[in-house]
Amino acid sequence: MTTETIHQKFGPPEIGGIGHSVKRAEDDRLVQGAGHYVDDIVLPGMLHLAMLRSPVAHARIVSIDTSAAEALEGVVAVLTGEALAGYNLAWMPTLSGDTQAVLATDKVRFQGQEVAAVVAENPYVAYDALELIDVEYDVLPPVMSPQAALADGAPLIRDDKEGQTDNRCYQWEAGDKAATDRAFEAADHVVSIDTFYPRSHPSPLETCGCVADVDPATKHVTVHMTSQAPHAHRTLFAMVTGLPEQNIRIISPDIGGGFGNKVPIYPGYVVATAASLVIGRPVKWVETRTENLISTGFARDYHMHGELALTSEGRILGLRVKMLSDNGAFFADAQPTRFKAGLFHIVTGSYDYPAAHVVTEGAYTNKAPGGVAYRCSFRVTEASYLIERLVQNAAYELGIDPAEIRRRNFIQPDQFPYTSPTGFVYDSGNYPAALQKALDIVGYDDLRAEQAAARERGDKMQVGIGIASFTEVVGAGKGTEYDIAGLRMFDSAELRIHPTGKAILKLGVRSQGQGHETTFAQIVANELGIPSIDVKVMEGDTDNTPYGLGTYASRSTPVGGAATVVIARKLREKATKIAAHLLEAAEGDIEFDAGKFSVRGSPDQAVTIQDVALAAYTNLPEGMEAGLEGVHYYDPPNMTYPFGSYVVVVDLDTETGQWKVRRMVAVDDCGVRINPMIVDGQIHGGLAEGYAMSSMQFITFDEDGNCIGSNFMDYLVPTAWETPRFELGATVTPSPHHPIGAKGVGESATVGSPAAFVNAVIDAVADRGIRNIDMPVLPSRVWHALQEASRS
Ligand code: CDP
Repeated sequence: MTTETIHQKFGPPEIGGIGHSVKRAEDDRLVQGAGHYVDDIVLPGMLHLAMLRSPVAHARIVSIDTSAAEALEGVVAVLTGEALAGYNLAWMPTLSGDTQAVLATDKVRFQGQEVAAVVAENPYVAYDALELIDVEYDVLPPVMSPQAALADGAPLIRDDKEGQTDNRCYQWEAGDKAATDRAFEAADHVVSIDTFYPRSHPSPLETCGCVADVDPATKHVTVHMTSQAPHAHRTLFAMVTGLPEQNIRIISPDIGGGFGNKVPIYPGYVVATAASLVIGRPVKWVETRTENLISTGFARDYHMHGELALTSEGRILGLRVKMLSDNGAFFADAQPTRFKAGLFHIVTGSYDYPAAHVVTEGAYTNKAPGGVAYRCSFRVTEASYLIERLVQNAAYELGIDPAEIRRRNFIQPDQFPYTSPTGFVYDSGNYPAALQKALDIVGYDDLRAEQAAARERGDKMQVGIGIASFTEVVGAGKGTEYDIAGLRMFDSAELRIHPTGKAILKLGVRSQGQGHETTFAQIVANELGIPSIDVKVMEGDTDNTPYGLGTYASRSTPVGGAATVVIARKLREKATKIAAHLLEAAEGDIEFDAGKFSVRGSPDQAVTIQDVALAAYTNLPEGMEAGLEGVHYYDPPNMTYPFGSYVVVVDLDTETGQWKVRRMVAVDDCGVRINPMIVDGQIHGGLAEGYAMSSMQFITFDEDGNCIGSNFMDYLVPTAWETPRFELGATVTPSPHHPIGAKGVGESATVGSPAAFVNAVIDAVADRGIRNIDMPVLPSRVWHALQEASRS
């Protein structure tokens, strides 16, 4: 991997403020295998829970006989939906306002759905006992695509829902239909594409699990849980179980990757907690890899139709999109209630045009719940993919270079803040600069010349150059517009500076490997001059951190990071007053720089933040409250809009369809970078995921509803072996929506890169009239497209 990065460094390296590539504080323990994950937790008297899952996709449950399982030595209890119904726990609300079966009572609605649970002295007995449960199923026809789900006469999947008469899950519209129709009437050309973004699974290294520990004496519930959003989960737990919220404590210990997979509430958490409540002993539930792959939150599964109205010079006049999503049997992912289709309508992308109209529709099918924000803000990945594929095709159809058509349509730097045709207010950007930088790094003109020569000669090996210039939307809220299950999407930071000048920062967000213990400490270092190694960052324990909505959709830095800046600045104000008292100077004469308060004009008259911290407990101005601590709840004024331009170069064998990445250049702009090394790491991971989606990683189902992709032999997660080399570049356009100008970055590369890879493959064969090959662009698909093109 090579990196070209520009960034501004604030303050001296020993303080480790913003812009310094401080080594990750958490890695001392994580790379030594000394992390503390849910499965590491062992409590006295702990029992183990194993889940019986449905072997079929759609069936009515006739009977469940648990007697043989109950009789097995070592089994403590066998739970069914019927038993849970006695506690009003057979069904639970989802974070999208739907309901989901905890353990099935009436029907099973996807393969892998939870049917019964065994609690035993050890996990081996629990799994053995599953074999002894006898379930009689009356198999129903499975509905395995959204088109089939919405067809006349389709079997009704959600007959549990009052008033639900078909398999429609939601319908959502954005933009201006009439204006868009007018744009299409005025167009010289219309370019359209029908494409499918396949179902994929976030598959974090650590599967989901929990240890539920209900104290029989106090009825206090502690759940150690793989949760990206512990506070929101606690509130939902309180609502579902009826237990008082102050008696519920959720602790998310170290988390081995989330990528959206650990946002939903899964039945396993609820059943383990119910079991602990009833039995009075701690209960551990940890999924196997296959359980994680077949039953927990999937992503994508979007069928998309897009049309661009253009002038003959390639100016975009309007965009029309119709999208159909396969949401699975329960609408169980988290998303703002006002945006049922997530933030898909960012689909207008990086381009300036007056009109767009987006219609999104979701269907219930007999698949596991889908739609999680797999390393993206609520379906921005699919949106970005569609617009970047469309623009690329427009270039071919109008005979304009794919880089040039983007330049002609980009929102220009002086147009920000820019209101998109679907109503987003983009904060800042310089799209032409990011694209130019990527083209310069890759040597675009030389590559196009090489491509022209190879085409001219009719070479078997052809070069393809794919571009994607994406814009993302990250950092939800603001609270009046974005919420999860009604909870406004603010976030929080609590900062306490101790007498020796060391600090503890507690956050409402929860890292799953993104390096918060380092970067959030750097924010404090930047604002107060306390070295980042002297700042301990705590997250994930609802009893000991302020309320927050959690970490997903790259919201930690835009929201939790901003909360940290604000509280650090508030404490600096108090510290300035104390410094003035210590220096016997007027508050207005105190200057602050990198941890030092000095008297204006007399730099030698100074005290450090550490002196001030001690004074906050020992030598205060008359009447001032002791201590140096506070909490801030930050409601962002708007989202932030990171962007970038990616260029992929592939060599493609036109006889076999085989293709290989020669170059991958990614220029990202996430505003001010707190820790450039960590940002690069986030981008590397996202690019690897984007490459995987474009080339190998997808989930399918057979017509009976069996999930093909239940293990890592079938679901191909990329390793270092397949992953190409990445070359990174950067531009820095600060966000006016953030107190230090930072935008989120955690998902950018996953959002931006799939289109670049696919566009590169198509670019290699575009001269033969090939405009669409669906992901993953397997060599066999390329080969078939080439055969078809040569016949027509
Ligand atoms: O919410 P999540 O942590 O997944 O995403 P993020 O806010 O984009 O941050 C991912 C990691 O990159 C965190 O450690 C951030 O603090 C860091 N980051 C950074 O150093 N500079 C930025 N401008 C954005 C993120």
